[in-house]
Amino acid sequence: MRVLGEHEVLPSVMSADPMRVGEQVDGLMDAGARSFHVDVMDAHFVPNLTLGSDFAAALATRVHALEGAVDVHLMVERPATMVAAFAAAADAISIHLEADPHPHRLLGLIRELGCAAGLAVNPGTPIGAIAPLADMLDFVNLLAVNPGFSGQSFIPTAPERVAEARALLPDRAMIQVDGGMDAETMPAVRDAGADLFVAGSAVFHAADPVESYRELAALARE
Ligand code: DX5
Ligand code: ZN
Repeated sequence: MRVLGEHEVLPSVMSADPMRVGEQVDGLMDAGARSFHVDVMDAHFVPNLTLGSDFAAALATRVHALEGAVDVHLMVERPATMVAAFAAAADAISIHLEADPHPHRLLGLIRELGCAAGLAVNPGTPIGAIAPLADMLDFVNLLAVNPGFSGQSFIPTAPERVAEARALLPDRAMIQVDGGMDAETMPAVRDAGADLFVAGSAVFHAADPVESYRELAALARE
């Protein structure tokens, strides 16, 4: 197992073809992808229902065989009830600041369970709210769309929010940007200080997902 690297593109498997997801993950790993993003939605915190812990475990079997990482983004109410179920498969878990009244405690639990601890932040939440939790964070997941669906438009406040987060976080805490990432939108958040880029539809809905991944991965490293 490994932790998330810097300047990585994480394909979001929610956007994969559900009938071909294993083959698509294998193709992306052949092209160099090592970290994969798993969007977990409960139809309460967000208006959609997606992947569960069995899926994360099956993905982990493939990804860990090549020393890759599974990054689980919990878009669920009361994430405390679900962290343990995902921790066995996950290398990193982000919980939403807006979803739990005790994020400090839960970030500590995620670390105790052996995962990198991330705090996901909706576009409408002030960035300053992460400051009291900075010591507990391995990464912040800044949403550049309102979570719930892939294929939504990038909200243009994201680059300034990345810069604001970079200014208040310790250097070791990475910044992930999730939602609306493509070759047009990535450079601005990268230049503002983002390290990790989640891409769903830009990879899996492209005519050639592997080629699209390669293009985004090169941009991430520029
Ligand atoms: C948004 C999810 C994202 C989503 C991104 O609710 O958290 O991870 O899969 O999809 P795209 O890249 O298509 O915006
Ligand atoms: Zn996500």
